[in-house]
Amino acid sequence: MPVHDTYDDVQASYGRCLRKKGFITRFYEILMQSHPDMEPMFHRTDFGQQRKALRRGISISISFAAGSPSAQYSMDQMAEIHSRIGRAPVDPSLYRFWLDSLIQALSETDPRFNDKVEARWREAMQKTIDYFSEAFAKNIARKTA
Ligand code: HEM
Repeated sequence: MPVHDTYDDVQASYGRCLRKKGFITRFYEILMQSHPDMEPMFHRTDFGQQRKALRRGISISISFAAGSPSAQYSMDQMAEIHSRIGRAPVDPSLYRFWLDSLIQALSETDPRFNDKVEARWREAMQKTIDYFSEAFAKNIARKTA
């Protein structure tokens, strides 16, 4: 029987960060400085709402990495929003800045952060990044077909 990786260690690290005030705010601060394209993309964003959306989005991404079927619908919605035809299109080349910004925020916030935790976060979030990137590419195909 296959043994499923439930990413409990990543979930626990996320829990430690969310219990500290200002984690998501700090993430956005780092993200905005990470690449010149970032700030203009969030031009009309209500950050009160956005912080909540991302908080939930990261949770869904961890469940998705763990193979939870209940994450699928929300993943498709997020992928669509960030696809070429979506409300907030994100070129796949930008995702490495997103991931590095998240890792930086985690390293500042999680008292138990270390190389192992970092590698596990990267592994988990890469699955979402790959999924969003594929959706972006599919929409290009659909548009040019
Ligand atoms: C370079 C990477 C990214 C950029 C530049 C980006 C940018 C954006 C922007 C501009 C919005 C719209 C905000 C608005 O409504 O004004 C948004 C929404 C959102 N993003 Fe991202 N995003 C990125 C990566 C991600 C990733 C990896 C996730 C998943 C964990 C994610 C989850 C969400 C969610 C949940 C919303 C809210 C959607 C809604 O309002 O229904 N984003 N993003």
